[in-house]
Amino acid sequence: MIRTNNISFSYAEYEKTEELDSDDLELIIAARGGALNAYAPYSKFKVGAAIRLASGIIVRGANIENAAFPSGICAERSALSNSISNHPHDKPIALAIAAMTEDDIADDFPSPCGNCRQVIAEEESRIGNKIKIILSGKNKTLIIDGISSLLPLQFNRKNLKFNIP
Ligand code: THU
Repeated sequence: MIRTNNISFSYAEYEKTEELDSDDLELIIAARGGALNAYAPYSKFKVGAAIRLASGIIVRGANIENAAFPSGICAERSALSNSISNHPHDKPIALAIAAMTEDDIADDFPSPCGNCRQVIAEEESRIGNKIKIILSGKNKTLIIDGISSLLPLQFNRKNLKFNIP
């Protein structure tokens, strides 16, 4: 028998920053600050990411490009490398992503690339919790309750037979 299934997800959309929770707004502002530190001479698209850890610490990341293109890293993975390296036992609870053009907040919110989605999924598996994902553009912010919405039917440790503690 053939079944047709459907996957959908809900997310919150905000048009005014005043409507956002103050913690979320603080994280978006940190992500925008991270974007200012980006090294993006090739794309000129500066992305920042900010992770709130359970302790309240905020860790930032930015995209860092390279003349050999694949050697660059996105803001999300840069932030996760930072948080896992420096605070391995402090679990991420939220991740905000924002982009800056040369002189302003980018109109559109950046959405994490496939590679970053996979790395965020691994981090959710590692910590055993969902990470709230906040995609923030100049006039619109989306709040998504975990990476499975952006990466359904994901490949993760459950697909492997290793017994990881
Ligand atoms: N980029 C990010 O850092 N995060 C995203 O979510 C999307 C894309 C970076 C990669 C590259 O340095 C530049 O944006 C243009 O693709």
